Amino acid sequence: MKILVTGGAGFIGSHIVDAHIKKGEEVVVVDNISTGFRKNINSKAKFYEISVTDKALSKIFDKEKPDIVNHHAAQIDVRKSVQDVFFDVKQNVLGSLNVIENCVKHDVKKLIYASTGGALYGEVKNPPADENSPILPVSNYGASKYAVEVYLSVYAKLYGLNYTILRYANVYGPRQNPFGEAGVVAIFIRQLLANEQPTIFGDGSKTRDYISIFDVVEANVISLTKGENEAYNIGTGIETSDKEIFDFIVKEIGVEIEPKHAPVRPGEVNHISLDSAKAKMELGWEPKVFLDEGVAETVTYFKNVCNKS
Ligand SMILES: NC(=O)c1ccc[n+]([C@@H]2O[C@H](COP(=O)([O-])OP(=O)(O)OC[C@H]3O[C@@H](n4cnc5c(N)ncnc54)[C@H](O)[C@@H]3O)[C@@H](O)[C@H]2O)c1
Repeated sequence: MKILVTGGAGFIGSHIVDAHIKKGEEVVVVDNISTGFRKNINSKAKFYEISVTDKALSKIFDKEKPDIVNHHAAQIDVRKSVQDVFFDVKQNVLGSLNVIENCVKHDVKKLIYASTGGALYGEVKNPPADENSPILPVSNYGASKYAVEVYLSVYAKLYGLNYTILRYANVYGPRQNPFGEAGVVAIFIRQLLANEQPTIFGDGSKTRDYISIFDVVEANVISLTKGENEAYNIGTGIETSDKEIFDFIVKEIGVEIEPKHAPVRPGEVNHISLDSAKAKMELGWEPKVFLDEGVAETVTYFKNVCNKS
C-alpha cells in the first residue's frame, strides 16, 4: 500500500510516517518545510518539498498514484489565524481543497484528515464534548478546519470520496516544536531545561485535554481501514489545567519555579475536553498513554535533544 502524508516533516505527520514505514508500507511525504523539519522525515520515505496549495501537486499524484492520503499539512497557529485570516484560509482551506480535488481525480481510496476537537466546539458548557456538540469555533483556525470537514462530506456525496476525520485534542510528545505558539508541553519543557521562566496565559485555570502522539498515531493507523465518512474525537476526556500541566512538568524535571502570567490570547477557549466514546465503539480506539508517562517520555526526549545541541 502506498500512503501519501502531507505535513510529514511536522510533529504529528512524521510520527505517522514512521509508523507506516515500520509496518512495511510505502510512504510519500509532501511538505513545504514551513514549520516542519527535514530531520523529521524518515529516510525510507520519498520526499517532495512543495506546498499543498501548489497546482503542481497534481503531478506528484500522477507520478506516485497513492492508495491513501493522510492530510496533516496546515498552519496550526490559532493566533496567526486571527491576525491573518487570508493566510490561514489559503493554507488550511484552499490547500486542503487542492489535496481533496487530487484525491478525487486520482481515485485515492481514502483520505484521512487531521481536524481539531480543541478548537471546534468553542466554549463547551459541560465538557467533555462529543461529536454532536454544536460547532462554535472562536478562532479562524477552528473555522477553517471545520470548513474542510464540510467539503469532505460534500465531495463524498458528489464524487464518492471516502474519508475519515480525526478531531484531535491537544497533542503532545517527542518532536513537537518547542519554539511554536502551540504545544505548551514542549514549550514549558524547553524553557525549564534552559532555566527560563515559562509564561501561563491567564490565571492558570484554563483546561485542556492532553493526548499522547502515540495514541494519535494509533488512531491514524486504524483509520486506514475503519471509520468510513465519519468524524471522531481523539482525546482522553480528562481536563488538565494550565497550572496542573506546569506543575507536572516542573516535578518531572525536578526544578522549583513559579510561572509568569500574561493576559489570555484571543481565539482561546477556557475549558475543553473531548469525549471519544464514538472512536472506542466504532474504531476500537482508546487512549493508552497516561499523562505522567507521556510527559516523562517527552522530558527524556527533550533532554537528549538539548544534550546533542
Ligand atoms: N498539535 C496539535 O495539538 C493538533 C491538534 C489538533 C489538530 N492538529 C492538526 O494536526 C496537523 C499537524 O499538526 P502538527 O502539530 O504536527 O503541526 P506541525 O506544524 O508540526 O506540522 C505541520 C506540517 O505541515 C507543513 N505545512 C504547513 N503548511 C504547508 C503547506 N501549505 N504545504 C505543505 N506543507 C505544509 C509544515 O511544514 C509542517 O511540517 C495539522 O493539520 C493540525 O491542524 C494538531
